[in-house]
Amino acid sequence: MDRIGQMQHTIERLTRPGRGILAADESYPTITKRLSDFGIESTEESRRFYRSLLATTPGIGETIGGVIFFEETLGQRTDDGLTIPAACESQDIVPGIKVDKGLVELSGSGGEKVTQGLDNLGDRLDGYLEQGALFTKWRNAYAVTDSLPSRQALDANAEVLARYAAIVQSRGMVPIVEPEVLMDGDHDIERCAVVTEAAQAALFQALRRHNVLLEYTVLKPNMVLPGKSHPRPSPEVCAEATLRVLRRTVPAAVPSINFLSGGQTSEEATANLNAINQAEGAKPWVLGFSFSRALQNPVQAAWAGDAQNKAAAQQAFLHRARLNSLARDGRYAA
Ligand code: 13P
Repeated sequence: MDRIGQMQHTIERLTRPGRGILAADESYPTITKRLSDFGIESTEESRRFYRSLLATTPGIGETIGGVIFFEETLGQRTDDGLTIPAACESQDIVPGIKVDKGLVELSGSGGEKVTQGLDNLGDRLDGYLEQGALFTKWRNAYAVTDSLPSRQALDANAEVLARYAAIVQSRGMVPIVEPEVLMDGDHDIERCAVVTEAAQAALFQALRRHNVLLEYTVLKPNMVLPGKSHPRPSPEVCAEATLRVLRRTVPAAVPSINFLSGGQTSEEATANLNAINQAEGAKPWVLGFSFSRALQNPVQAAWAGDAQNKAAAQQAFLHRARLNSLARDGRYAA
């Protein structure tokens, strides 16, 4: 299959009815923090056991169409001896890989961040392809204040995200572009809407400059929500603000928008996704999920690091994935 055919096929698999994406791509520091919240030690073996548990959950391929992994996981094996990507494929789930190398200070700014990882990206992708990954993810993060993010941070981050996407498409892989406006802080929902619109507008201009084919690109945005210190808005208010921004910024050529959960509770993320899909008006994209915490928190709580809880943890994963599958079609009832 040629490069375009490969991307087309991957997009079709990622957007099959009822499916969403699981983000299980936490870096070493992040997975250590997530697991320690549930009293679990992060070791090579505990990470292998846990991510195998996710990939081998019976029936999970009905609601999860793709999983994003961290590079360590691509080489790890399930108890049955399959590589974890092969275990995904055996359930018809597309394996993906996070390829950015995290945030560094943006020199010349007042302490803002830019995402690094472009050096040798093409060579790294060739290796990930051999290990079975067919799509990729790169995350930018934008902190919000009354005056930030700056023009410098918006443009620098858009530029690297677009360069990443162009390199990924040169290998016939599908890029997920993730411009995350953070929920930390005391900004209101309208400030989040303004910043999200600015970040996405800069991103789509940069994608165009770099000749990225939008038809084979997935957007992973934040939902539009107030900062954490505010009371939570109703799902309808979140849906209205989120769709208002997306309609202004995201061309209809983009096949799929898969939201991050960003620190929302599992229930909040599912209810908001459901409201977004129930809302009236133009929605020319799949509006799905690519949650990490909102899918995995209940799984990690049920597992608690004890192999005897494996079946219960898989049951928790199936349950949460099913609810999000319903929400992706606006059919979830809280
Ligand atoms: P959350 O859903 O926990 O925000 O994580 C999504 C993600 O992949 C962040 O890069």
